[in-house]
Amino acid sequence: MAAVARGPWLPRAWLCRRAGPGCGRHYRAALCAELKQPLAIEEVASRPVRPHEVRVDVHFCGVNFADILVCRGQYQEKPQLPFIPGMEFSGTVLEIGTDVSIVKEMLWQIPERAPLREAAALPVSYGTAILALEHRARTRPGETVLVTAAAGATGLAVIDVATNVLQAQVFVIAATGSDEKCKLALQKGAQSTVNYSQGSLKEAVRKLVGSAGVNVAIDTVGGDVFLEALRSLAWEGRIVVVGFAGGNIASVPANLLLLKNISAMGLYWGRYKEQSFPIFSRTLSSALQYCQQGRIQPHIGAVFKLEEVNDAFLHVIQRKSTGKVLISLK
Ligand SMILES: NC(=O)c1ccc[n+]([C@@H]2O[C@H](COP(=O)([O-])OP(=O)(O)OC[C@H]3O[C@@H](n4cnc5c(N)ncnc54)[C@H](OP(=O)(O)O)[C@@H]3O)[C@@H](O)[C@H]2O)c1
Repeated sequence: MAAVARGPWLPRAWLCRRAGPGCGRHYRAALCAELKQPLAIEEVASRPVRPHEVRVDVHFCGVNFADILVCRGQYQEKPQLPFIPGMEFSGTVLEIGTDVSIVKEMLWQIPERAPLREAAALPVSYGTAILALEHRARTRPGETVLVTAAAGATGLAVIDVATNVLQAQVFVIAATGSDEKCKLALQKGAQSTVNYSQGSLKEAVRKLVGSAGVNVAIDTVGGDVFLEALRSLAWEGRIVVVGFAGGNIASVPANLLLLKNISAMGLYWGRYKEQSFPIFSRTLSSALQYCQQGRIQPHIGAVFKLEEVNDAFLHVIQRKSTGKVLISLK
């Protein structure tokens, strides 16, 4: 869970309060009581904030593809039932536990100019996009970037960061499963598009950039789309494995890596939280800063109410969504 919130970033004296305004109340939550079943909206009793906790009034939650996998028991992390799914939210800090000295551990402060709605769309998608392009692939000016499922939450974030943060001259090819999604990717800054539902991704990329291939590929689909992206790489190209939205995990033909000195690498953004917190934290601070500066603009494709959470999940899993899908609690 990574979240962004707006102050008050309370002075130390405030941190000593025992019971806060939220204590004793009830709040609504979408609960997963059984895997592969619809979530239930329940009233949950609020309890006093523990010394290491912070109470946040949540305004918006992001719906991630991974949330659906978690609720189906198909994700690498398997929380104990019953649980409240969710990986990111934005809100307002209400109360801070007595042992919390800096509200920085899993909360990042939203700058004044960044709206709460947009802020909720940042952590997972932009954290991943920044990490993939900058830290893993080490994308350089003048390089070509191929991104798959390019109109999705991660895909559009990759386009946004590549074109608006990585100091220009990065040529982005957006690969998606429909003409409408290709059109959106172009509007959001991609220079070229490929609809991979209509033929070979590799052949289409070759027509666009010639046999030299692309320098970087960011793949969230897996299976054949991953293999075609791998085969589209240039000499010393880098492919970043981000997800398997298509449901199939491909094996990497090692000879392809050897022939063109290619690097295939994985990326699990959330794991940096435990393994390398400064890197994890930097992706969030950077995303918030870029958003405040107006350099990036998350695309919010749909906003659902909490009661509509199962419709929101269907919208994502049926490939109908573009950009980030949010749940509004206000
Ligand atoms: N490793 C990490 O740290 C990390 C971080 C973020 C996301 N992810 C993973 O990356 C993937 C995409 O996440 P996201 O949040 O960007 O999701 P998203 O916005 O829902 O995008 C998913 C897209 O994948 C494409 N897709 C292809 N085959 C599909 C299928 N059989 N079923 C559903 N979608 C299919 C669809 O786009 P087209 O119609 O254009 O093909 C769909 O819109 C997920 O697997 C997620 O778990 C991993």
